[in-house]
Amino acid sequence: MYKRIITFVSLICISATISTTAFAVEQQAGVAMPDSYSADVAASILSKGGNAVDAAIAAQFVLAVTLPEAGNIGGGGFMLVHTDKQDDFIDYREVAPLKGHRDMYLDDKGNVIDNKSVFGVLSAGVPGTVAGMWLAHKKYGSLPWKSLLEPAVVLAEKGFVVHPKLAKNVSWYLDYLQKKDIKVNFAEFFGAMKAGEVFKQPVLASSLQRIRDEGSDGFYKGKTADIIVNFMKQQGGLISHQDLAQYQAVSRKPISQPWQGYQVLTSPPPSSGGIAILQWLNMYQQLAPSKGEAALVHNSKEYVHLLSEIGKRVFADRADYLGDPDFYPVPVKQLLDENYLKKRAGDVDLLAISTTEQVKPGLYESEDTTHFSIVDKWGNAVANTTTINLTFGSGVVVPEAGFILNDEMDDFSAKPGVANAFGALGGKANEIQPRKRMLSSMTPTILLKDKQVALVTGSPGGTTIISSVYQSILNVTEFGMSADEAVNSPRFHHQLYPENVIRHHSGLKSEDKKALQQMGYTLDNRHFGDVHLIINENGKLDAGSEAHGRGKALVLR
Ligand code: GLY
Repeated sequence: MYKRIITFVSLICISATISTTAFAVEQQAGVAMPDSYSADVAASILSKGGNAVDAAIAAQFVLAVTLPEAGNIGGGGFMLVHTDKQDDFIDYREVAPLKGHRDMYLDDKGNVIDNKSVFGVLSAGVPGTVAGMWLAHKKYGSLPWKSLLEPAVVLAEKGFVVHPKLAKNVSWYLDYLQKKDIKVNFAEFFGAMKAGEVFKQPVLASSLQRIRDEGSDGFYKGKTADIIVNFMKQQGGLISHQDLAQYQAVSRKPISQPWQGYQVLTSPPPSSGGIAILQWLNMYQQLAPSKGEAALVHNSKEYVHLLSEIGKRVFADRADYLGDPDFYPVPVKQLLDENYLKKRAGDVDLLAISTTEQVKPGLYESEDTTHFSIVDKWGNAVANTTTINLTFGSGVVVPEAGFILNDEMDDFSAKPGVANAFGALGGKANEIQPRKRMLSSMTPTILLKDKQVALVTGSPGGTTIISSVYQSILNVTEFGMSADEAVNSPRFHHQLYPENVIRHHSGLKSEDKKALQQMGYTLDNRHFGDVHLIINENGKLDAGSEAHGRGKALVLR
C-alpha cells in the first residue's frame, strides 16, 4: 500500500523497489463482510489491484444500499487502518447539531422524554460517513473515487435481491413501530421489500451519484444538503447548512498496546471500546489461571464468571470517564495503567459475584451497526465499523435523498443515571454539547505480531460490541480457534447493569448455566453481534463471517 499511497499523493518519486518492506511478497487477500454484495464488491476491488482502503470505501457505500439496518450514508463510524508505514483511526462519528444542547431530551420536570432520542429527526446527529470515506480516499486511495462509488450506484438503481433475513428484519421493524405507535416514514420507503425479489432505490441512487461526481461536497453542500436542511425545517429537526458544511472526519492515533506477544491496535475515544477491550484482556491475563491443567475451559462457569466480574469494572469506568476527547479530558493513560488495572483486578472474587446497585435494564430489543474486516495482498488491513445506531436508525428516511437518518443522539447521556437504549449509563463526560461526538462502543481492532497483521476483528451490537470483540480475540489467541469457530462460538456479555444479568448466545452448556444461576446470575438468552474476522498466519489467511447474520467471507488466492 505504501507504494499506492505515494501513487495517489504523487509527490514522491516512485521506484519499483519502494515496497521492499515487510510486505514485499504478495500474500493472500481476504474479506469478511456482513453481506454477499459488499463481499463480492470488496473482493472485486482487491482483484483489480485496489488496496484494503479502496475495497473498504466501495463496500461502505454498497452497504448503504443493501444493508439498510445499519449500512449508511446517514450515519457514521470508525475505520482503523494498518499499513506497513502507519496506523490510523479515521473517526467519522456523527456530531450533535449546533442547536443541540444538554437537556434537549428532558421535559420541563427534568425527566427524559420517551423515544425522543431514538426515533424521528431530533434523534439524528450530523452524519459523518461520506466525509470519513472521502478522508480515507484522500489519504490512502489508489483507485479513482468514481470507480469506488459505481457498484453502489448500480445496486441502488438496478436493484438487488432482498435476503430473507433482511425481509424478516424489515417486517419485525414495521410491527415494532406499529406496536409502539411510532410515527415515522420508514414504511413508505422500505415496506415493499420482499424476500427474493429485486428492490430498487432510485432516489438513493441519485444521492450516491452526486457523491460519486462531487466527492464529499456532493453530500455536505449543494442539492443533497438543501434536501436535508429543508426536510429538517419541515419536521422540526436541528441539522442546518452550517452543521453540514462544518462537519469534519478526523484522523486520530489508534490506541496501541502490547498484550501476550501481540500489539493490539484499537479504537481511541470517542470509542469506549478500545479502552474496554484492553482493560478486559489485561485483567483476564492477570486473573486467569495459567495454561495447562489449571487453565480455564472456554465458556465454562468459571470463565463466564471471571469475564463478567471484569466487565463490571470496565463498564463502571466507561460510565464515569469516557466521552469525546475534544470536549472532555478522557484519562486514557490512567485507565490503561498497569498498576491501576492490578488494583482494579485485585478485588475480583473468582467464586462469588461482587455487589452492584440495582438500576433499570435497557429499554429496546433492537440494536445494530455493522462491521467488516479486509486484508489486501500487501498485508494492509482495514477494520471498519459503521452505524446508524439502532436497527434502521431513527426510522426516518430523508424523502428526496432516499437514505435513513441515524438516531445516534441516544448514544449521548440524556441525563446522568438514566440508561440509554443499550442500558449504558453516562455523566458529564458524555453529556450533549454542540458539535460533540457521542460516546461509542464500536471497536474495530487489529492485532499485529512481529509487525504483521495477525487478526482483524469487529462487530455490531451497541455495548455488546466490546464483548464480541474481546471474546473473538481470546477465541483465536487463547483457544486456537479457526476464523469460523471464533465467530460462531457462543458469546456472553455482562455490563454492570442490569445487576448480575449475563446476556448470552445459545450453546452454553446446561451445567454451566445452572451453576451460574446458582451463583446468583440471571441469564438472558438473546443473540448479539455479528463478528467478521480475518486471521493471518504467515501470509495464509482464514476469514470468517458469523452464520447468524447474512455475511460472507472470502480468501482470494
Ligand atoms: N451506536 C452504537 C455505538 O456507537 O456504540
